[in-house]
Amino acid sequence: MKILQLPKITDERGNLSFIEGNKQIPFEIKRVFWIYDVPGGEVRGGHAYRENQEFIIALSGSFDVVLNDGKNEQRFNLNRSYYGLYVPSMIWRSMENFSTNSLALILSSTKYSEEDYIRDLEQFITTLQ
Ligand code: TYD
Repeated sequence: MKILQLPKITDERGNLSFIEGNKQIPFEIKRVFWIYDVPGGEVRGGHAYRENQEFIIALSGSFDVVLNDGKNEQRFNLNRSYYGLYVPSMIWRSMENFSTNSLALILSSTKYSEEDYIRDLEQFITTLQ
């Protein structure tokens, strides 16, 4: 898990950042989804993936991503569109403190599969052992 800085092409006409799979991030992108219109105080996530890796960007606004590898919990505040958080597989995550009108973009290394989710914290801890 780590924050990665993305290319930022500054321009008087507006700035531009980009990501190519296996270049700025360490996996090929199989899926993209985004989270938006989050009411104040709501929490998303609360699960781990067995295989899926993610890269999370605050395209607009800000939010916190809380990660737990079974030993340590770390909180990352994302608030710039040229930074992202790389989350490997088998990390428990949740997202909270969404600002008004925030937009979270998530790049995923696998297609959606409910079987890949671990939604029970105790099962996550057991699976790690
Ligand atoms: P989920 O990953 O549980 O949301 P959260 O961000 O809170 O962890 O997904 C919520 C619902 O959306 C769930 O029923 C599955 C569905 N979903 C898809 O169908 N495809 C996807 O790519 C994603 C991410 C979710």
